[in-house]
This record gives sequence, C-alpha cells and structure tokens, in this order.
Amino acid sequence: MVAFTARAHTNIALLKYWGKADQKLIIPTTTSISLTLNEFYTETTVEFNDDLANDQITLDHQPLKAKDQKKIINFLDLIRAQANINTYAKVESFNHVPTAAGLASSASAFAALAGASAAAAGLDLTPADLSRLARQGSGSASRSIFGGFVQWDRGTDHQTSVAHPLQEQVDWPIQLLTVIVSDQPKKINSRGGMQNAMQNSPFYQSWVERSNALVKPMQTAINQHDLATLGKIAEQNALEMHAQNMVANPPFFYLTDISWKIINLVQELRENGLKVYATMDAGPNVKIISHPDDTEKIEDALHTILPEITIQVATPGPGLKIWQNGATHA
Ligand code: DP6
Repeated sequence: MVAFTARAHTNIALLKYWGKADQKLIIPTTTSISLTLNEFYTETTVEFNDDLANDQITLDHQPLKAKDQKKIINFLDLIRAQANINTYAKVESFNHVPTAAGLASSASAFAALAGASAAAAGLDLTPADLSRLARQGSGSASRSIFGGFVQWDRGTDHQTSVAHPLQEQVDWPIQLLTVIVSDQPKKINSRGGMQNAMQNSPFYQSWVERSNALVKPMQTAINQHDLATLGKIAEQNALEMHAQNMVANPPFFYLTDISWKIINLVQELRENGLKVYATMDAGPNVKIISHPDDTEKIEDALHTILPEITIQVATPGPGLKIWQNGATHA
C-alpha cells in the first residue's frame, strides 16, 4: 500500500484540558481552547505493508520506549479496525519541537499519526473525523488538526467530543514566548497528573464549572482580537489548573522556584503597562502570551533576573497537512 506523510503543529491551551470524563475514549471534563503554533511540529510517514511481521515505529530514527510504542500500536489498531485490515505498519516520525522547548509533543504526534495512518489505510476522513481519531491517542491532539484558534468541545460521547476552528487565519499580533526552565522529562506526565487532580483535589468540580464558564468570554476575546482579555483569562485558567494539583492530597507541583520568578516578573511587567500573560502546562516551563512588538523588552527583563535562560518565540500556525509520498506538497 502507499505511504502517506502528515505534518501537524503543536498547540498551547489557553483554556486547559485537565481531566477525563471517559478514560478510554478520552472525553474531557471541560471544553478547552488553544492556539496552534507555527514553529513546532511533527512529521510522520505511515505505510501499511503485507511483508511486515509487526509494527515498526521510530522517532527521529530511534526505536520508541516500550510504553510509547504500546500507545502507537493501540492507535494503529483503531485504524486497522476502521479500515478493516490486519496489515502491520511502518511508522517514521520526526519531531520538529526543539528538544529543549518543553512543549507537549503528544498533540502534534498523534495529530500527525492520525492524518498519515488514516490516509495510508485508505480511509477518507473529514478533519472532524481526524480530530475524533487523534483525540483517542492524546486529548490535546484533537485540537492540532486545525490551525489558529481551536476549540475542543467537551461533548458527551465519541461523536460530540471534537475540535473545530474558531479562527483559522490569525491576522492580528499575538505570540507565545516559551521560557525554558527545564528540558528534563516531567516526574508526573499529564495523563497521571490530571487523573491525580481529578481524584484528589477537593475543588475539582469547581475547576470544571469555572473553566467551562470561561469558554464564552475567551471566544469573545478571540473574536475581538483582545490580547489583554485573552491573556488575563488564560493566565487565570492556568493558575487554577495548577492550584488543583497543589491542593490535591497528596499535593504535587509542576512549577519550580524559577517558574514562579518568571510568573512574578510577568505580573511586574504588566504593572508597568505591557500586555504580557503567563500560561503553564504539565511542567515547569512558562509560556508568555504577548505582542510581537514587546519581544525585546520581555527578553531583556527575563535575562536581567535569569541571565542563562533560553527563550523560544512561537507564532500562530496552520492545521494538518497530508500528502502521498513522492507527491509535492505545500
Ligand atoms: C496541560 O493531551 O497530553 O497540556 O489525553 O492523557 O494524552 P492525554 O493528555 P494530554 O494533556 C494535555 C494537558 C495540558 C493542557 C492542554 O493541552 O489542554
């Protein structure tokens, strides 16, 4: 069968997904909203081949760890069931997420895998179908099918829990500065962390209600190109997500003293009139939502308190692209 390649970009959640109503199908407890990023992406080639005796999977030319391998094989099984084939696949993936960026690569990884494996298996799927499929690999991957601002509706079942674009072409100034606090793998991954918060935070239900109530105001901020309101809501929502982890019993922390230094600096810069807002995921790195004109000022301020710190700039990016190997692509 023919090989297909897909490229999917990673995304940063402005309203976070932090908990599953259904573990198996990956149906979240909240609706989330993200921005797809241009600079960071995964490219994956899949070929189903009758000559193979098992699935062959590599990432950046290296075989995967057993646990990650299992996740990919489970995902390929979904594709095989849907396409009614038994054939094993060769999967070659390349991560263009700088290793030090500390940005979640599972979003771009499963979105690219969904696109390439569905096409290679001969399935003709809509972007919404691909979003539902990618969601079953990793929740945040459902959003990486689309470019720009994207909403993943919580939904109640496989059909209704799906992402859709809110604004595919982002033609107004917004960027994300990722401040690299650590490039080490996190102690508790997102899957374990969100489960822990859900089971052990006494305020989890309140997080769900408060987060879902922010969907409409976030949509309005995006529609009105209102960086200040968007950033304020995103920062509040990120801090409330981290609060769930901190008040869980036992508590756990993704943010380190350096993360807090950066968050404090962001607040200080804001008091001095800059539109800068912090958001943090399942790790210590801080991402600063800001206006491209302010990059130098923000970088200077960061380097004053943390001279060695690395900063990556990311801008709004496109949705999934799929092409047949050998064919030219955009
Ligand atoms: C903090 O999508 O990585 O980045 O569905 O278990 O694979 P699984 O989790 P994952 O979680 C992402 C969590 C987050 C917030 C977000 O991206 O919405």
